[in-house]
Amino acid sequence: MKKSLASSAVFSLALLAGSVSAFALTVQEQMGRHLYMDKDLSWNSTQSCSTCHHRSAGFADPTNSRDPENTMVSLGDDGVSLGGRNAPSSAYAGYSPILAQDENGEWIGGMFWDGRMTGDVLGDPLAEQAQGPPLNPVEMNMPDEASVVARVAEAPYAHLFIENYGVEFFDDPLAAFDEIARLIAAYERSEELNPFNSRFDRDELTAQEIDGFTAFQKAQCDACHSLTPPATAPGPLFTTYGYANIGVPVNEKLIGVEGGHYAPPDLGLGYVVEGEDGKFKIPTLRNIAETAPYSHNGYFATLEEMVRFHVDRGALEPEVATNMVDPVTVELTDQELADIVAFLYALSDGGMKQKGR
Ligand code: HEC
Ligand code: HEC
Repeated sequence: MKKSLASSAVFSLALLAGSVSAFALTVQEQMGRHLYMDKDLSWNSTQSCSTCHHRSAGFADPTNSRDPENTMVSLGDDGVSLGGRNAPSSAYAGYSPILAQDENGEWIGGMFWDGRMTGDVLGDPLAEQAQGPPLNPVEMNMPDEASVVARVAEAPYAHLFIENYGVEFFDDPLAAFDEIARLIAAYERSEELNPFNSRFDRDELTAQEIDGFTAFQKAQCDACHSLTPPATAPGPLFTTYGYANIGVPVNEKLIGVEGGHYAPPDLGLGYVVEGEDGKFKIPTLRNIAETAPYSHNGYFATLEEMVRFHVDRGALEPEVATNMVDPVTVELTDQELADIVAFLYALSDGGMKQKGR
């Protein structure tokens, strides 16, 4: 890769029908957006990143959010395979740092529910993550890096790569595959996925939502779904990007399903770090009303059920019984629980196709 991309580069984009962003994106972000939307990066040209992380579903899987009682995992490009986990939002994910231990020995950062894209390879967990789906047989199902790069070389937007990197870009498939991942990550970090313009950000909460925000803090939800933004973010991310085992049960509905890849117990962070069985990445709560179902295996179809479970686990058996945190111990009335759910609806970004209440 000889010619590097000048960040100030101005270029005229041959805009493809329907591919225009409502946000002012940099050249890199625009290129990443083309890649993110390109179904030809899957073997049968049936799915792009956007298929499973679509803006209409808070950048999670719209097929799942339309029918969260029955559809909790995503269908692969082969039309048969079903993944083993609920697709999280790709929005606001870029703030997750490289997986490392904090001063208390707790693991923070990385990508995926289990942190396995640590960021150690490319120095950026988000870029590293973007290299997973194209080559994953139960997702986009491409045979190797070179075939992904070959599809980009044939794409209607390939000229952008030639203009910005030179034709030699396509000569070194492994280097090109790394750069493609970095461009996708640049788009995922753009304002389009991180607008920070929910009613919470705009200070437009209703009286009930304000009560909900108060109850959210009273219940110390923010111990994990943090209200303290990292230095690089203009507002809270509602996650520390840490890990916890809150005792989510096995999702029986995913067992024995044709094409299914769910094989409980799912050990989460335990696959990546010894002794951490059962812990899963604490999800952001931004756009949470759009991204049903909830938790790593989609056990909870509604926000009401998910929030209530945090307070009262009832008689449900955990999928993994080690490393469990105690449930939220603060007494909450039914009204306060309803208020918290109302508050969570106010975390949907403006411009998102919002679900009514
Ligand atoms: C077939 C559906 C599907 C496709 C296609 C897909 N993803 Fe995902 N994505 C998932 C699932 C499921 C997970 C969670 C997997 C896990 O944790 O093991 C995930 C996780 C992620 C995460 C991690 C978020 C976090 O907070 O840890 C990001 C970011 C992401 N995907 C971006 C992408 C990008 C970029 C592409 C295209 C290159 C893509 N995805 C393609 C289903 C999909
Ligand atoms: C000890 C840390 C912790 C506390 C405290 C906590 N959560 Fe969570 N929360 C998590 C983890 C971890 C998950 C994902 C668990 C899994 O998938 O196994 C989660 C999941 C969620 C989800 C679903 C997110 C998604 O994308 O599927 C919502 C909504 C949520 N929490 C809201 C709350 C609320 C409201 C409170 C306070 C009543 C709260 N949480 C307290 C750690 C915590």
